[in-house]
Amino acid sequence: MKITINSSISPVIASFLIALFLGGGTVLAANEKSLLTEIKEFNKPFDSLSVKQVQPVTRKTVKAREKYQGGSFQVLARKQAIERYKCSSCHKDKPVLVNQAMELTHSDIAINHGRKGNELTCIDCHHPDDRDYLEDKKGRKIDFDHSYQLCGQCHFRQKRDWLGGAHGKRVSNWAGDRVIYNCASCHNPHSPRFKKRFPATYSVPLD
Ligand code: HEC
Ligand code: HEC
Ligand code: HEC
Ligand code: HEC
Repeated sequence: MKITINSSISPVIASFLIALFLGGGTVLAANEKSLLTEIKEFNKPFDSLSVKQVQPVTRKTVKAREKYQGGSFQVLARKQAIERYKCSSCHKDKPVLVNQAMELTHSDIAINHGRKGNELTCIDCHHPDDRDYLEDKKGRKIDFDHSYQLCGQCHFRQKRDWLGGAHGKRVSNWAGDRVIYNCASCHNPHSPRFKKRFPATYSVPLD
């Protein structure tokens, strides 16, 4: 802590500082506690600037189907954010006889995900028969709230970092019952790259 002596510092602190400079080590040791109290009182107005340790979570969460260092954690839920959920309100077992039905319903979805010329297709991720679910490599259903299980099959490094807290963002708690963002809270699964952009500010060159 840097202390500058100016008129706003109480004379008590000033006299202790002078005692320190004059080599009054023993004097200080005896009065150390009261000096600390003085400094704390002096800094009191700044205590109100501290942030709350636990942020209240107002968004819907679900318990993750994975463990983090042996314990459980929560992720932000996704289903209520998906406009066209439940998919089965249209996707029933009946065949669609309308021409260009796909364009009429999902033309807003442009796939820009995968290697150029070899982009991922809908059923690499969506369940082929039950549209209310995603699907893993072994044909098992994945709930939309747990899409990190889907992404993590291919992007296992990012998933490992995400579990540990190095990729993504925390909503509340550093440890214990953590609440974190889902992959799809940030990435659009159909076009997951972010646009390149300049930083909001830059370092001033030293001269
Ligand atoms: C308003 C009705 C409607 C809703 C709601 C809807 N879809 Fe569709 N979807 C269609 C139609 C119509 C087609 C084109 C015909 C077809 O392939 O069955 C289609 C096609 C698709 C296809 C491509 C099928 C293929 O074989 O290529 C996928 C994948 C798909 N929908 C996923 C979804 C998912 C996931 C949801 C829910 C989040 C959803 N849809 C909600 C009407 C709908
Ligand atoms: C990389 C995996 C992946 C691929 C490939 C993919 N989807 Fe999706 N899709 C998802 C995930 C994950 C969600 C849920 C997103 C969320 O949580 O908001 C989703 C959401 C949707 C939705 C609901 C959201 C919306 O925008 O209405 C529809 C409809 C949909 N997908 C259709 C399709 C169709 C059609 C294709 C093929 C042209 C396709 N998806 C390809 C992973 C994929
Ligand atoms: C079936 C495998 C597969 C799944 C599932 C999958 N991806 Fe991908 N993803 C790829 C491939 C392949 C690429 C292209 C990698 C490259 O160009 O080097 C890619 C690229 C990306 C990129 C851009 C990477 C870069 O370096 O620019 C992001 C971000 C991404 N995916 C996020 C996701 C998210 C989020 C999900 C889940 C919703 C997901 N992916 C699901 C295979 C997958
Ligand atoms: C809080 C938002 C957020 C969450 C949650 C998130 N990501 Fe990312 N992700 C980013 C950002 C920002 C980048 C960097 C984009 C860039 O550099 O252009 C990124 C980059 C990536 C990349 C590109 C390669 C890399 O490491 O830079 C992949 C792949 C990826 N994320 C996958 C995932 C997966 C899988 C999950 C879930 C397990 C996930 N992300 C969760 C924000 C997020």
